[in-house]
Amino acid sequence: MALNKKTIEDIQVSGKKVLVRCDFNVPLDENKNITDETRINAALPTIKYLLDNGAAVILCSHLGRPKGEFNMKYSLAPVAKRLSEKLGFEVKLAKDVVGPDAKKLAAEVKPGEAVLLENVRFMPEEEKNDPAFAKELASMAEIYVSDAFGTVHRAHASTAGVAAYLPAVAGFLIGKELNFLGNAVENPQRPFVAILGGAKVKDKIGVINNLLDKVDTLLIGGGMSYTFSKARGGAIGDSMLDEERLGLALELIKKAEDKGVKMLFPVDNVIARSSDMGGKTVCEAGKIPDGYEGFDIGPKTIELFSEEIKKAKTIVWNGPMGLFEKPDFAVGTKAIAEAMANSEAVTIIGGGDSAAAVTQMGLASKMSHISTGGGASLEFLEGKTLPGVAALNDK
Ligand code: 3PG
Repeated sequence: MALNKKTIEDIQVSGKKVLVRCDFNVPLDENKNITDETRINAALPTIKYLLDNGAAVILCSHLGRPKGEFNMKYSLAPVAKRLSEKLGFEVKLAKDVVGPDAKKLAAEVKPGEAVLLENVRFMPEEEKNDPAFAKELASMAEIYVSDAFGTVHRAHASTAGVAAYLPAVAGFLIGKELNFLGNAVENPQRPFVAILGGAKVKDKIGVINNLLDKVDTLLIGGGMSYTFSKARGGAIGDSMLDEERLGLALELIKKAEDKGVKMLFPVDNVIARSSDMGGKTVCEAGKIPDGYEGFDIGPKTIELFSEEIKKAKTIVWNGPMGLFEKPDFAVGTKAIAEAMANSEAVTIIGGGDSAAAVTQMGLASKMSHISTGGGASLEFLEGKTLPGVAALNDK
């Protein structure tokens, strides 16, 4: 899919101060060690391109949800340190976002150098997309580059508002993400199979609805599959249920029938009295006794889903098949990841839990693309406009 937005390759960056919004929202352990640096690595091609082409780079990002207050728990210091190591020179971290220290560093940064502003969400104006704050951010630079794919679904000052005050273009990560996700959805090699899991029906309705217009086959697993099972007249014991959306589940099944989409549900489940008590057993789907909860897809479902994965030429996966944080209930999610890794198809993993599962299993390199955005890739798959992309200059 051609991105109809200008990119960093469409403008002259040499000698210019360039403000780059990245998504450095990386997970940290209690000692503030970064436990997964995928997002830092994903930002490097754009940063290196800008440095190599003589730009003076001013980086900014959020980390966590500090709710508009300076809170050093959410400082970008660990990111500045890791970036410095990766780039081979010191990336200075400003003590503030648009305050005197940020302004000083931004004024001093030279072509071929990079500095990092402190967490943009330390300012309450960021999430409000406050124009005055966006203008302040813009005042430090001459060009704005958006490369924070994981945050493009947020209309915040640093992701969208700032684009009103500077020439605004996309970085390489935005281009890559939209290329993979866009091609998969708009121009897929068929059969196109989508696998959707995760706990809540509510979170996935938009995606199911939109993908039913695009896919040949839709495989549904995870916590949300029990609501579909119940809607189809099955017994789900004490499994997760979204009572309010039983009718909607039936409507989606009807839409699949009308569109000729093969919509497949689990045929068996791994059940237990509770997720902590052990004693798991396999049960036919729709026949879960009271007092038991479904926590994973069963072996027959793994076989059924794997067959569909084998036949596919394009596969998009979002959401685990069970409670994969617990080894007892991770078998289904692992089997789907393995089937995808062994497939010849274009394989795309939506961000969030499924990306974490694939990375934990060491299968990341076997996939065509793993999105760096959980919420962002989901909103893209829902067919929604992404404010952080919409705000950029058209080609
Ligand atoms: C993410 O981790 O999905 C992005 O960084 C966006 O974070 P947010 O959900 O706090 O806006």
